[in-house]
Amino acid sequence: MPRTAAGHSSPAPHPTPGGPPGSPRLSARGVVKRFGATTALAGVDVDVAAGETVAVMGPSGSGKSTLLHCLAGILAPDAGTVRLGGTDIGTLNERDRSLLRRRRLGFVFQFGQLLGELPAVENVALPLMLQGVARPEATRRAAEWLAALGLAGKEGRRPGELSGGEAQRVAVARALVTGPEVVFADEPTGALDQSTGADVMRALTGATAAAGASLVLVTHDEQVAAWCSRRIHVRDGHVTDAAPGQPAAGPASGASAPGGAR
Ligand SMILES: Nc1ncnc2c1ncn2[C@@H]1O[C@H](COP(=O)(O)OP(=O)(O)OP(=O)(O)O)[C@@H](O)[C@H]1O
Ligand SMILES: [Mg+2]
Repeated sequence: MPRTAAGHSSPAPHPTPGGPPGSPRLSARGVVKRFGATTALAGVDVDVAAGETVAVMGPSGSGKSTLLHCLAGILAPDAGTVRLGGTDIGTLNERDRSLLRRRRLGFVFQFGQLLGELPAVENVALPLMLQGVARPEATRRAAEWLAALGLAGKEGRRPGELSGGEAQRVAVARALVTGPEVVFADEPTGALDQSTGADVMRALTGATAAAGASLVLVTHDEQVAAWCSRRIHVRDGHVTDAAPGQPAAGPASGASAPGGAR
């Protein structure tokens, strides 16, 4: 496993304790977010357990991306609290929120997250180097993740020289390489056809499980949501937890972890 192989020889990835035993890894209470006259989130409660994979669904404009950005400390809520393990994100200043995102969270978006002028391996190594991991070690760990995601031999390609699905798997490697507690993904397969999207979801859920991370994934697509163990629905800034504790649906149980049988 990349995490196991790399974890022993690197600085501790999580300098902050994870919170009391049994408490959710990520917990939002009464989160409100307004943009001018628009109330994008109207008092939202969400809990995400360690290792849980949650699909966030709902109509366009309902507040899904805003919720993800508030949970991830990208946006500061106007009211309410968001806790990651033992940390109340709302009490952190901008710089500490940015450090928390870099050290404890991973992100996969629909487009534009890879640096076009850098080869795949350097895109993946970059978050490690930003944490102070030396280039040779960062490059070695990045190459392990790329290989685990089926991209061996493509380390030197720039994003423009990869297919859409390959580029998204590079983005998955980049999100996971630092050993995050929670991975956030906003429409990660939105630009892909169904079969390529399934490949990316297999990579994303397999890598997340292998790393022991939780996953919060925004999608419009039922087939993408089926890879997750739970769904929540957002409508007009309100969340309804449609199926708490629902067992993993079809494809999720068949996902192979990176570094496994490939
Ligand atoms: N930066 C912003 N400034 C002003 N209004 C915003 C901003 N971001 C979001 N909104 C508004 O907040 C509401 C929720 O937007 P959000 O992007 O969270 O929706 P969404 O559910 O992600 O939609 P989609 O499925 O289309 O991506 C919408 O009414 C949107 O217009
Ligand atoms: Mg959105």
